[in-house]
Amino acid sequence: MKFKNTHKDNEITDESVYKSRRKLLQAGLIGSAGILSSTSSLALTLPKPKHNAKFVIDELTTEKDATTYNNFYEFGLSKSAPSEKAGTMQTEPWTVDIGGLCAQQGPVDLEKLTTNFQLEERVYRMRCVEAWSMVIPWMGFKLADLVKFCKPLSSAKYVYFETLHDPKQMPRQNGGSIPWPYREGLRMDEAMNELTLMVVGMYGKKLPNQNGAPLRLIVPWKYGFKGIKSIVKIKFLDRQPVNSWQAIAANEYGFYANVNPNVDHPRWSQATERRITGGFSLFNSRIKTQMFNGYGDYVADMYKGMDLARYF
Ligand code: MTE
Repeated sequence: MKFKNTHKDNEITDESVYKSRRKLLQAGLIGSAGILSSTSSLALTLPKPKHNAKFVIDELTTEKDATTYNNFYEFGLSKSAPSEKAGTMQTEPWTVDIGGLCAQQGPVDLEKLTTNFQLEERVYRMRCVEAWSMVIPWMGFKLADLVKFCKPLSSAKYVYFETLHDPKQMPRQNGGSIPWPYREGLRMDEAMNELTLMVVGMYGKKLPNQNGAPLRLIVPWKYGFKGIKSIVKIKFLDRQPVNSWQAIAANEYGFYANVNPNVDHPRWSQATERRITGGFSLFNSRIKTQMFNGYGDYVADMYKGMDLARYF
């Protein structure tokens, strides 16, 4: 598998250096500024993130695996296509168009969002519906902060997201089975949950293109396909939107997509997952999948009384 690096050499923080910095950070020995010093020469300079010690998991997936084993169908169906082909996508400048049932309307510069809202670093598990998983240090701001900024009307019950639609830059948008652009949505309480992040970086650097630069969603208790990449549009709706995978196969992929080891995908079991940590990933042993991907304490209340096999 070829590793195409989208950063210049002098912008790279070696993973081992990153890990040792993380340990120092956890111990409170250095400020978080150190982590981001390597991005200072970039056009969009991310402010310092606050390290959130509540969300720390050991056994990080290697940066190499997290940036070369990807799903980003706009660039191809193979896991290596995004890292091989997404490097040329233009991510600066970047605006997000806000609309629908909210007071704040129109385009907003990404830089305004990254400077207005507190950036945090959090380590989350990510569980793909295909039954592989990773542990990734993300950097982002709470979607709740952005929702408040948009001033939704009381009639707004859902938040809807769209990925960039530009077949010149995203070659597979010229065809293929997905109705482009890629679409996702959350219920308003899910959007406001403290776990839900709008992500702009990982491993202490700006998000590489293949991981959804410059702005993606991360909802750690849901299957990875909810984590829509390269977001250009956010809309507030009074009706539940149809997300891309639901549009493709509603009997296999639902709107909720909460990680649930008790509800199998029609074609495979969801009881276990292959945790990709690094090295010979394909041979990593399987571990048990946790309900809500292990985040039940934060999210289970939102689904009380719902039949999770029906609303999958
Ligand atoms: N977003 C867009 N626009 N296009 C995609 O194909 N794939 C989804 C999600 N977001 C996808 C997307 C799926 S299926 C997964 S598992 C995650 O992105 C993968 O994120 P990663 O490549 O950063 O691990």
